[in-house]
Amino acid sequence: MTARKADHPVADFILNRWSPRSFTEATISKSDLETLFEAARWAPSSYNSQPWRFVYALRGGKGWDALTGLLNPFNQSWATHASAIVFLLSKKTMMVPTSPDPIPSRSHSLDAGAAWAMLALQAQINGWATHAMVGLDFDKAVEVLHVPEGYAVEMAFVVGKTGPKEQLPEALQAREMQSPRMPVSEFAFEAQFKA
Ligand SMILES: Cc1cc2nc3c(=O)[nH]c(=O)nc-3n(C[C@H](O)[C@H](O)[C@H](O)COP(=O)(O)O)c2cc1C
Repeated sequence: MTARKADHPVADFILNRWSPRSFTEATISKSDLETLFEAARWAPSSYNSQPWRFVYALRGGKGWDALTGLLNPFNQSWATHASAIVFLLSKKTMMVPTSPDPIPSRSHSLDAGAAWAMLALQAQINGWATHAMVGLDFDKAVEVLHVPEGYAVEMAFVVGKTGPKEQLPEALQAREMQSPRMPVSEFAFEAQFKA
């Protein structure tokens, strides 16, 4: 596997996190998964509204078939070998000091994304891999997960132990590697946006 190289020094757990598709069929305990949700818990959010919500199933456990059944066939083909599947949702309204009623949150998806990133990094530190997916049936997810009004389904992800790439179909083996990134100069600008 090509090792990633940072242009500026960053922590190894950031540089080394990547999204594999080959998983060993390891089991994850509820408590190991809860450690990951604990990491998500401490994410920053607008007005500390903490809009992230997670619905999960452990491989072979309650809800596993229903939750993995929401993924598109491509994602199902590899994600069903992971140890847990988790759906990330967000609450679209929040309480603020200036209003007695909830107001729409501008940043519910952004805040949920921050929580997911914290979780993914804690997973990396703890020896677990994660792989996010938007390839799923979002309408059906609302039904199957019993998502109430006022919440958005953001994405799903799996958690597992990285397996050997040889167990994947050939086409996927070629993609089983740490992907590169554009340089900082292409996305961080001083004073003005540079197109
Ligand atoms: C919101 C989101 C949705 C994604 N959806 C899918 C997906 O449906 N199927 C898939 O195989 N990978 C999916 N990915 C994985 C990305 O392709 C991957 O994160 C990206 O190529 C960067 O690679 P890395 O995570 O290995 O660094 C998704 C990632 C994110 C963050």
